[in-house]
Amino acid sequence: MKECKIALIGATGAVGQVFLQILEERNFPASTIRLCASPRSFGKEITVRGEKLIVEEATEQLMSEVDFVFISASGSISRQMAPVAAKQGAIVIDKSSAFRMDPNVPLVVPELNPEDLDDHHGIIASPNCTTTPMVMALKPLHESNAVRRVVAASYQSVTGTGAAASEELIAQSRQVLDGREASHDVYPHQIAFNVLPQVEEFLENGYTTEEMKMQNETRKIMHAPDLRVSATCVRVPVVVSHCEAVNVEFADPISPGEVTEILANAPGVAVVDEPQSGVYPMPIQAEGQDDVFAGRIRTDLSLDNGIAMWLSCDNLRKGAALNAIQIAEEMLERGLLL
Ligand SMILES: NC(=O)c1ccc[n+]([C@@H]2O[C@H](COP(=O)([O-])OP(=O)(O)OC[C@H]3O[C@@H](n4cnc5c(N)ncnc54)[C@H](OP(=O)(O)O)[C@@H]3O)[C@@H](O)[C@H]2O)c1
Repeated sequence: MKECKIALIGATGAVGQVFLQILEERNFPASTIRLCASPRSFGKEITVRGEKLIVEEATEQLMSEVDFVFISASGSISRQMAPVAAKQGAIVIDKSSAFRMDPNVPLVVPELNPEDLDDHHGIIASPNCTTTPMVMALKPLHESNAVRRVVAASYQSVTGTGAAASEELIAQSRQVLDGREASHDVYPHQIAFNVLPQVEEFLENGYTTEEMKMQNETRKIMHAPDLRVSATCVRVPVVVSHCEAVNVEFADPISPGEVTEILANAPGVAVVDEPQSGVYPMPIQAEGQDDVFAGRIRTDLSLDNGIAMWLSCDNLRKGAALNAIQIAEEMLERGLLL
């Protein structure tokens, strides 16, 4: 793979920190790594591949000196920085929702729709951390038997919100166990020892923005604009890894055995499904792993051609940092970097 120079905006965040670990684990061919964050982190030292790097400001000049700019900061920072970086000739791989539904921006999961990278115009989006696991299971199934309708409920960890949410869960847990009142700042309610049926903001249709991302991003990645998806996104007091209960209606009959075989052969998916022995995907087992884990695969008794399943995936890895790195690897392998 060709060597490249990269910048990471959001290097001190939950996704950024995992991103740096994965670069090292995969021996990503970066000859130069520039780290950027907010002004409060300028000058901070972060050790990457045994080398101390200093957090800098993401200037136009810096972005003109690299091949890839990975952004994992916030939607508003992506909206501000991505066009600037692309204008400087860098390829932007963006983790935020800012550009995902832009028709000029490919939304890519490299195992599923790598061909969409051919049409990029300098900015490439990586999907939401709930969309990626679901689509990793749905797309290979859809290729064998058309998916007509999906009903999903997510069980999302607090690192999906970022580093501050993870600190809030831990602090609240201590407060509750000490018999003190739990203070909250990141979420609208206490998350420790609780479950919140709200991820992001409510829209007029009664769904949240996160739930609509699951519908819209899934349709875009699968090239299935009419696919019917209804999601309920729920925040749970887990630190890392999202889970999803997914019910799928297919065009034609399909058995749990067929689904198991397709998923077991799908790249990036692992079947963990011996429920009688207590073996099924769980967040504590998915944490730190690259695969999307699928289990509890069974016939949906409420449908003619229905399957119910349960997924678990490390939201910081395949749900975020790993997918972004895989996009860059795919571009390097296919010579898409000029
Ligand atoms: N967490 C997930 O599972 C996940 C999954 C998919 C997508 N995403 C997306 O990835 C992005 C980052 O999420 P996260 O969970 O890593 O959030 P986070 O832990 O809150 O980290 C935010 C990062 O952005 C940096 N930042 C803040 N203001 C900045 C500025 N003005 N200029 C440059 N950098 C700035 C922060 O730097 P300081 O430390 O200096 O404040 C920090 O490095 C978000 O867009 C999120 O929606 C997250």
